[in-house]
Amino acid sequence: MSNPDNAATTRPVCVFIHGSGDDASIWGALIACLPQYTNIALDLPGHGTLVDSPGPAEMSVSDYAAGVRAKLAQRGLHAVCLVGHSLGSAIALRLAVDAPELVGRLVLVGGGARLRVLPALLTEALADQAATKRQLAEMAFTDAHRDEAHAFYGRAAPIAPGMLYRDLAACDQFDMMSELDRVTQPTLVLTGAEDRLTPPKYASFLAAHIPHAKFALIPDAGHCVQLEAPQAVADAMRHWQGQARDRQ
Ligand code: COA
Repeated sequence: MSNPDNAATTRPVCVFIHGSGDDASIWGALIACLPQYTNIALDLPGHGTLVDSPGPAEMSVSDYAAGVRAKLAQRGLHAVCLVGHSLGSAIALRLAVDAPELVGRLVLVGGGARLRVLPALLTEALADQAATKRQLAEMAFTDAHRDEAHAFYGRAAPIAPGMLYRDLAACDQFDMMSELDRVTQPTLVLTGAEDRLTPPKYASFLAAHIPHAKFALIPDAGHCVQLEAPQAVADAMRHWQGQARDRQ
């Protein structure tokens, strides 16, 4: 009989980074579809389990990436498959370039090389975090999954005050448009065909400019594609990993 501990250590490790105002639970449905990996979903400072440890009032994508880098080092992890959503994809991209030994493969979900934010959203996030989070949720799901959006955000973990603004401001200042040729890792760029927050145009740009990138467009899903179509995302990841194994 195989020892489950051994199995866990020999399975590829996937580390997941959530997006603005979210927390690790946004990956639950997808992780349930990925039993072949050892899956670790992180909370960013001030989010989910780290609600009482928000850190400084301002943090850039590079600051968040430094925090993730420290967490990987603490756990002795390297060459992981780093999976990021939205702000999390920006953090993953930054880390892939700045600490390539830590990132073996990259999955960018609902991402972009630049993530400018509607000015009204930034203003509203400063004034009323909870209302802006609800508004973002409305924009992040397709109409067909409106009930799931409400259910998910109804039970979402709390975030510390000011976090949504801090996250959106980090996105707004993020720009790696001219650095994508420095990404050396095999990369899967994955986006919902109906994404309104990071339109498929952004994903196409990533896939066209990252040297070893594959592109998966998931139909009938928006920005929260990993919640709207978890099995389709898992299948795309499995197919992509399989292609890499076939080439070896
Ligand atoms: N990849 C490829 N192209 C991009 C890009 C990216 N990541 N980001 C911007 N561009 C393109 C734009 O589409 C635009 O192209 P165009 O001139 O052909 O229309 C051009 O680069 C200039 O874009 P930029 O000046 O950065 O932004 P903008 O003024 O076009 O739009 C917003 C700014 C905020 C209105 C827009 O980014 C938007 O609607 N964002 C989505 C909503 C949002 O707030 N999302 C939150 C993300 S976390």
